[in-house]
Amino acid sequence: MSLFITFEGVEGCGKSVQAKALYRRLSQLAIPVVLTHEPGGTPLGMRIARWLKWTEGTDISPLTELLLFNASRAQSVTWIIQPNLENGKVVICDRYADSTTAYQGYGRGLDLEVVTAINNSATLGLKPDLTVLLDMPAEAGLARKGARKQDRFEQEDIAFHQRVREGYLKMATNDPQRWLVVDASQSKTKIAQIIWQRVSQLLSEWGLKRE
Ligand code: TMP
Repeated sequence: MSLFITFEGVEGCGKSVQAKALYRRLSQLAIPVVLTHEPGGTPLGMRIARWLKWTEGTDISPLTELLLFNASRAQSVTWIIQPNLENGKVVICDRYADSTTAYQGYGRGLDLEVVTAINNSATLGLKPDLTVLLDMPAEAGLARKGARKQDRFEQEDIAFHQRVREGYLKMATNDPQRWLVVDASQSKTKIAQIIWQRVSQLLSEWGLKRE
């Protein structure tokens, strides 16, 4: 029995902190768990991620972006996500296909049907059992990131980031069974508690809990 959990949200929402916290908690309970990240996760994926986030002086078209994120994803699904799920592990992924729908679909304005078709092909149709959306206003998330050097996405205007947030909220509303929407302005401890409540319930249902 396996469990596939993804974390999503706008820039600065705190999803990586929560993905790591969940990974630690499951490890402490001796539940076999793997934590991975998109874009990245594999050596090739990490190179693609660098191009996507830091390429300067080259215009990357929205379609190229869609394909590159999904190239990285296809590597992750094939070599990390699917094999570990088949081995009965919990797989936590910090961003997954919903990021592409939110950023390249709602953010960049690519046709949502095209985005979904390419996502489905890269993921081999593999969908998360649970997707945690750490929701907060785009302005607040960007403000949390502070003054350090911004990548290509962080440099986008506020309207882009607002479309991304709205896109996430639409997806969550359309599939409440899969999505857990958490107010990301709460304390880290409170957020971790809310996430753990849902995850431990799923673990019990799936017979994975060892507490
Ligand atoms: P992160 O490593 O900070 O999560 O950055 C990844 C960036 O890439 C973030 O700005 C969101 C963006 N992104 C997309 O635009 N589409 C995608 O499919 C993924 C996975 C990330």
